Amino acid sequence: MTRGWQLVVVATLAVGCGDSGEKPIADSGVDGSGSQTAAARGQYIMNVLAQCTFCHTPLREDGTRDLDKLLAGVDCFVDIDSADFTDNGNGTGCVSTRNLTNDATGLKNATDEQIKNAFRNGIRTDGKKLAPIMPYWVFHNMSDEDADAIVAYLRTVPGVSHTVKPNEPPWTQYNDGTAPMSPFAKPSDIPMPRGGENNQSAMRGRYLAGMAGLCIDCHTPETTPMSFVLDFEKSYAGGRVFPKGSLGLIDPSYPALIMTRNITPDATGLKDWTREQIKSSIAIGKDTEGKAVCAATHGGMISPYAALEPQDLDDIVEYIYNLPPIENDTTTCTDPGCGNCQGPPVQ
Ligand code: HEC
Ligand code: HEC
Repeated sequence: MTRGWQLVVVATLAVGCGDSGEKPIADSGVDGSGSQTAAARGQYIMNVLAQCTFCHTPLREDGTRDLDKLLAGVDCFVDIDSADFTDNGNGTGCVSTRNLTNDATGLKNATDEQIKNAFRNGIRTDGKKLAPIMPYWVFHNMSDEDADAIVAYLRTVPGVSHTVKPNEPPWTQYNDGTAPMSPFAKPSDIPMPRGGENNQSAMRGRYLAGMAGLCIDCHTPETTPMSFVLDFEKSYAGGRVFPKGSLGLIDPSYPALIMTRNITPDATGLKDWTREQIKSSIAIGKDTEGKAVCAATHGGMISPYAALEPQDLDDIVEYIYNLPPIENDTTTCTDPGCGNCQGPPVQ
């Protein structure tokens, strides 16, 4: 679906997001004294946990991420009526991500409340509604502290003058409110771990996976394809379908459409997986057979999740390990050209 995502992945690779936990743009957010500043926390959320940078930073011609334009927005991030999802110039199908930098063409003149209202409630700073490709309906449940940290970080991002290309139909229908907004995820849509609130690590993981991060977005099916409305009866049970380019897969041997996996501990999901195996899939993109997990977010060399704080990763794993099992076979994908994928062995 998105050339943007695909290219950002290539770019992340070039920037050197290693498979050894090497940290790319973001650091852990812990300053020299061992305590974390709000801006550093915001940087970690934006660049690692919630992958905001993934969508909001443009790329150079050679496919490397243009760090001089960090968070400056991507013109025609995706053109949905173009065969390769890049801008075909026909006046329809393009959606752009926004300039979030400290410039008048970005968020410099927006108030803190306006910025938070955009990423948590889906109201753009110009008063229009956001297209739901921007996961405001997940971030709606982000804590005030983390939302404030994002704003604190954004205030430190160097300004870049860049007016993004206007959105085209059908996306403009979201902006003018003729197409419905995606309903905000309710806390009850984000399953409780087995053990409930007593399992504090898993509860922390629940927040990181389903409220401040995007595991739930990719690993939950939509009610109908391209509706951007998730079927929360099947939270984390996989089955959302993505064009492979949106997952950073350019290899022609992969199916054109990739269905995400069921990551609940059902027989159709991760039953019998150890915590270590789940961890390795998420962070370094190595599955139980030692092969590559086919998604940008999990690719060994390209995963922002390689830079997750160890405690955050442990908590996410504890949560996934303790999800209520949901039966959903995500190995058979019926759309033409649709399938699963597995890459070459990971070292
Ligand atoms: C999947 C891609 C994607 C991710 C991930 C993403 N965004 Fe966005 N964002 C978009 C798109 C696309 C738009 C513009 C949509 C539109 O104009 O209708 C947008 C718009 C915004 C806006 C509105 C700016 C304005 O001018 O009103 C803000 C603020 C924002 N995003 C912040 C964030 C933050 C913070 C995160 C991470 C916590 C994030 N985004 C993650 C795609 C993304
Ligand atoms: C951008 C979309 C996306 C996001 C975000 C994402 N995943 Fe995935 N994930 C995928 C895809 C695609 C696959 C592999 C599908 C395939 O191989 O057919 C996958 C595979 C996995 C696997 C391996 C499953 C298996 O059976 O091999 C695990 C475990 C996993 N993801 C957990 C997570 C967790 C936990 C998070 C959040 C920290 C997360 N994912 C975020 C898309 C995503």
